[in-house]
Amino acid sequence: MAGNKTFTMIKPDAVEAGNIGAITKMIQEAGFGIVSMKLTKLSKERAGQFYAVHQERPFYNDLCNYMSSGPIVAMILEKDNAVEDFRKLIGATNPAEAAEGTIRKLFATSIEANAVHGSDSDENAEIEGNFFFSSLEKF
Ligand code: TYD
Repeated sequence: MAGNKTFTMIKPDAVEAGNIGAITKMIQEAGFGIVSMKLTKLSKERAGQFYAVHQERPFYNDLCNYMSSGPIVAMILEKDNAVEDFRKLIGATNPAEAAEGTIRKLFATSIEANAVHGSDSDENAEIEGNFFFSSLEKF
């Protein structure tokens, strides 16, 4: 059975552009409840840990520089079928391929600066939520 939690980040480009409010509103209007939320900043090392699965990919170093370039907003979200529904709401990794009305289509500026993260499995949602939030910060 699909889980009811996912994890997201509003990435540095979208925070810098002043889109925290607009993106959070879209998330809530799509039926996601916010379980946990914080504004924070990743060091390059922490960004590298978060994206360790991509460490052999050619874009990894640039991605770590970008993800540590400014503040991000981390959130744990709750909804039935959360992981799959949230991936639909954000759209394809490359905004040029993202469907109309998706968060990445509306707010992303490139495949790297693509506005938001969304977990790709229930297992990763749990791991990624725990990367940012202690048990005291999860309700
Ligand atoms: P990936 O896990 O493939 O995408 P998603 O975020 O949609 O799950 O990639 C992680 C991040 O790496 C992606 O959001 C942006 C960055 N990235 C690049 O910068 N260049 C690329 O060619 C790819 C595939 C990803």
